[in-house]
Amino acid sequence: MDPQATTATRDGAPTDSKDAKDRAYYARIAKDYFRRQDQPIQRLSTRIESSWLREQIRPGSRVLLVGVGGGREIGPLLDLECQITAIDYSPEMVEVGRVHWEGRPIEWAVADAHQLAEYADRFDVVLCLAALNYFVEPGKAMEAMASSLVSGGRLIVSSINGSHRTEHGYTAPAGHHRTLFNPKSLTRLAEDAGLRPEPIRGIRILTDCLPVAWNRPGAKRLQSTALRAILLIEPLLRRIVSPEHAKFLWLIATRP
Ligand SMILES: C[S@@+](CC[C@H](N)C(=O)[O-])C[C@H]1O[C@@H](n2cnc3c(N)ncnc32)[C@H](O)[C@@H]1O
Repeated sequence: MDPQATTATRDGAPTDSKDAKDRAYYARIAKDYFRRQDQPIQRLSTRIESSWLREQIRPGSRVLLVGVGGGREIGPLLDLECQITAIDYSPEMVEVGRVHWEGRPIEWAVADAHQLAEYADRFDVVLCLAALNYFVEPGKAMEAMASSLVSGGRLIVSSINGSHRTEHGYTAPAGHHRTLFNPKSLTRLAEDAGLRPEPIRGIRILTDCLPVAWNRPGAKRLQSTALRAILLIEPLLRRIVSPEHAKFLWLIATRP
């Protein structure tokens, strides 16, 4: 075989690397990033997470966004006048974000969550939403993200909850990576990275048990009304239902 013929993705990873299928997938779906976010359940997540970010992040903080995709969380961070660095290993995702947020003061870079040495000891907040589950080695990525924080800085991670009933029996398609956590294992992952975790929060208590068709534009009237009603009771559910029953988990952990 001619070694010169070895191909590479745009950021230099060989196409036969163990995450090649994942990378090809993100390259394919990047252009649809903001269309996918514009669905009732996704809008609900972003609304809840944005309000939590406003509570948790001090104005002017230095924030690193890891596995950022197009950056659905960037709006509230700009309102807080944060200094934003946004990274993703998919050049296509970075391009979508860069174009969408053009003219805003954001530093964009193609970078792998497992290799963050150049960002060490720099950030007040590291934010990683809905991405940890897809990293090849989540423990290693958690350590890399923890090292990017200054002492007293906080890591904020959202993760699919493996205990949620929609996840039972799910296996990722061959060649793709997906590691699931529950409140206990996510907390342990943060502790193993040397962080001090707070109690886990849960979001999207019922919504992901609904038929997928309900979450699309053009859902029938009765379906959209039922979905809207369920979205309305989410704040109440979050107060009374344990995170064990939520579709997504939120972890906040401090670097000592
Ligand atoms: C499900 S998307 C979530 C995107 C965004 N955080 C959001 O919540 O909309 C997962 C993202 O993680 C990125 N990703 C996966 N593995 C990565 C890695 N090792 N390093 C950096 N980004 C990665 C993908 O390219 C993709 O943009």
